[in-house]
Amino acid sequence: MNVRVGVFWMLFGLSLTAALMVSLSASMQQRPDRAVSYAKDVAPVIARYCLPCHAEESQNSSELSLDTYALMMRGGKHGTPVVAGKPDESILIRKLLPDPPFGETMPLKMRRRSASGAAKKLTEQEIDLLKEWIRQGAKGN
Ligand code: HEC
Repeated sequence: MNVRVGVFWMLFGLSLTAALMVSLSASMQQRPDRAVSYAKDVAPVIARYCLPCHAEESQNSSELSLDTYALMMRGGKHGTPVVAGKPDESILIRKLLPDPPFGETMPLKMRRRSASGAAKKLTEQEIDLLKEWIRQGAKGN
């Protein structure tokens, strides 16, 4: 085998290994097995997408305030939106998906466009994060 062919196969092997490692780490990120924190992970998502309408002082017909963990757990018209351990039964999640059990899919569109770009849809990763938090017991950690 001449040197060029040898170098070719060496580089080929290296890039295969690199590609494998990248796809492995990507698949590992999909379901975080670390503890999801209310303060660090959940609250920022809620603040960005939901607080423009679900803050305590806003006149929201659902009567649901999401400013704090305690207010979220108190819930609105339809009771507490979170069933600990059961994301699929939690209104908080079901209202984010197409075909919610009542009313509109959240976040509802803003009438006026806000500078922060609020009311855009959550990404799949953000929804997964909220689900994982509920799966882990929806703690106020
Ligand atoms: C533009 C305003 C607006 C935004 C942004 C918004 N909501 Fe709402 N939300 C409403 C209104 C109005 C209702 C009542 C009508 C309905 O249920 O569709 C509601 C109802 C709800 C309810 C039902 C509460 C109950 O007990 O009836 C949940 C749960 C909810 N929203 C969650 C969220 C979450 C989570 C976000 C952020 C991802 C969000 N909303 C963003 C306006 C908004």
